[in-house]
Amino acid sequence: MLNIILMGPPGAGKGTQAKKIIAKYNIPHISTGDMFREAIKEGTELGKAAATFINAGHLVPDDVTIGLVKERLAKPDCAQGYLLDGFPRTIPQAEALEVLTKQIARPVGIVINFECDRPELIRRISGRRVCVSCGAPYHVDTMRSKVEGVCDLCGGKLIQRKDDNVESLIVRLDHYEHQTKPLLAFYEKSGLLVNVNGLTGYDKLFDEITVLLDEVARR
Ligand code: AP5
Repeated sequence: MLNIILMGPPGAGKGTQAKKIIAKYNIPHISTGDMFREAIKEGTELGKAAATFINAGHLVPDDVTIGLVKERLAKPDCAQGYLLDGFPRTIPQAEALEVLTKQIARPVGIVINFECDRPELIRRISGRRVCVSCGAPYHVDTMRSKVEGVCDLCGGKLIQRKDDNVESLIVRLDHYEHQTKPLLAFYEKSGLLVNVNGLTGYDKLFDEITVLLDEVARR
């Protein structure tokens, strides 16, 4: 069973590889960022509460985020595997996940950490465009859509995320350094952590990840 966590700083390429992984292995993509953006789009109470934090680059409070993931991971489609993207991001979130995955007998099998340097993260985030309908990520230089401004996958409109500006990114990187990076030691200790070079090209990186995941699936 493939129970996966993707970790790494904003812009390291988690969402891009996540789309490829879920298509190949047919498991649900649980991206807390996407879930919040969907709630914002729909104008729900959750969305209204999350928008202020997200647009400024801050983390959404742990109780809200943990509640959301608890509900999602307990759904039947996660019984054959899941891909967590952007969760956990704090020690309390990692601890809550540990308890939850034990309760529902769906333990994490691998944590893939994307390493990427800061100048490249800034280049990627400032040039990123995302599909307003399906969330697929593009880049104005390195991953253009076939028709400018239109998603190749679903025909949706491509936009720039509100938090994809230098001010928010500096805050996001700061949260990553202080709150998320310490989790790497937590997962290294449990033997689940594998580091990959996020600077590797899109397809070569996916091939490397596939090798890792096939090995986990065989266990
Ligand atoms: P979230 O949506 O999770 O954003 P993030 O972690 O900041 O990550 P990104 O989506 O920015 O980057 P990515 O690594 O997925 O990069 P991508 O593949 O798109 O979270 C957003 C916000 O929601 C948070 O700031 C927070 O407020 C809130 N939130 C979410 N989860 C939370 C939690 N657990 N707790 C509290 N708050 C939470 O790639 C980026 C660009 O690079 C693209 O343009 C792409 O084309 C390009 N690229 C990708 N791969 C490559 C490559 N190999 N080579 C060259 N270019 C590449």
